Amino acid sequence: MSISPGDRNAQPNAGKAGGRSRPSASGRMAAELVPASRFTYAELVAAYNQTRVDYIVPMPMNETRLREYVRDYDVDLDKSVVAIDGDQVLGLAMLGIRPGQVWVTRLGVLPVRRRGGVGQALMEHLIDEARRLEASYVTLDVIKDNDPAYYLFLKLGFCDLRELLVVRRPPGSPSTCVDSYILQMLGHEQALELLGQRQDRPSWLTATPSLENSGDLKALRVELANGDRGWMVYQETSFQLRRLVLQTTEGDPHRVGLALLHAVHATHPTLDTKSENLPAEDSHWLAAQELGYLESFRRIEMRLDLE
Ligand SMILES: CC(C)(COP(=O)(O)OP(=O)(O)OC[C@H]1O[C@@H](n2cnc3c(N)ncnc32)[C@H](O)[C@@H]1OP(=O)(O)O)[C@@H](O)C(=O)NCCC(=O)NCCS
Repeated sequence: MSISPGDRNAQPNAGKAGGRSRPSASGRMAAELVPASRFTYAELVAAYNQTRVDYIVPMPMNETRLREYVRDYDVDLDKSVVAIDGDQVLGLAMLGIRPGQVWVTRLGVLPVRRRGGVGQALMEHLIDEARRLEASYVTLDVIKDNDPAYYLFLKLGFCDLRELLVVRRPPGSPSTCVDSYILQMLGHEQALELLGQRQDRPSWLTATPSLENSGDLKALRVELANGDRGWMVYQETSFQLRRLVLQTTEGDPHRVGLALLHAVHATHPTLDTKSENLPAEDSHWLAAQELGYLESFRRIEMRLDLE
């Protein structure tokens, strides 16, 4: 993959921060680091896909998806960074920024240029950016058993917080019997109101601004005969239900979870479901498994305190 250095200054945000060479903490000269905003989306997509050709879970990106990703997760391309060696992109890493929250995402180095200090240099640059933003901590998540990345983050001082599940359910009406419930279907505005009342501890990916940015939200409430009740917010796309947030407001989360998930899948029987970063200890997970959910893979959420 190559880039045209002359194009670097043609981008709208060019000039905000200069590229520079720097050694990593290990003393190896890593690369020149250039703000990601100096690259086109097409270049960033090409770079990302090249760094992930051998990724533990295939996640190919295209331009549309990267634009959505940057929008939904408040990625700051001026603060995100690309490592180059002459006209060759070696790797990249992105920084998501919201008030009180900073996270690293999309880190990757070309397979042929790994173990040369580039990944560490990219990470150290983003950690420095987070310090300049006066963030008190940086978070990220890493797929479990992705040892190169996990050991890199440990080396930089990140600690494990918890495990997050990426879960799926194939289309189909629910076959499990659940307690009878009263159902109320709600629209986007009411979904946003409910998210304002959430009691869970979302990751950056499932935080309320991520859901607000991604749009097309729906919600439902259920109430069981014994008064147990709860609500659920989700995103409906053409083929998939996504971004599930389940909340039990009264009673037993297992029974409420069964009713919520029964209701959503009885309403949308033709849609596949994929939801990311459900905490492994979430009290609704058992109910989800009883209604046909499977774990695709899990991530480790990590945090580096800066104060
Ligand atoms: C993770 C990744 C970015 C590391 O990049 P890199 O340039 O090879 O890493 P560095 O050379 O800077 O290594 C820095 C430290 O990371 C750790 N590390 C990197 N590769 C490792 C490996 N294969 N096994 C164990 N530790 C490893 C080591 O602690 C290393 O320090 P050391 O050289 O003193 O032992 C790279 O492997 C990659 O792009 N992987 C695919 C994409 C990916 O997993 N991205 C992260 C998603 S969360």
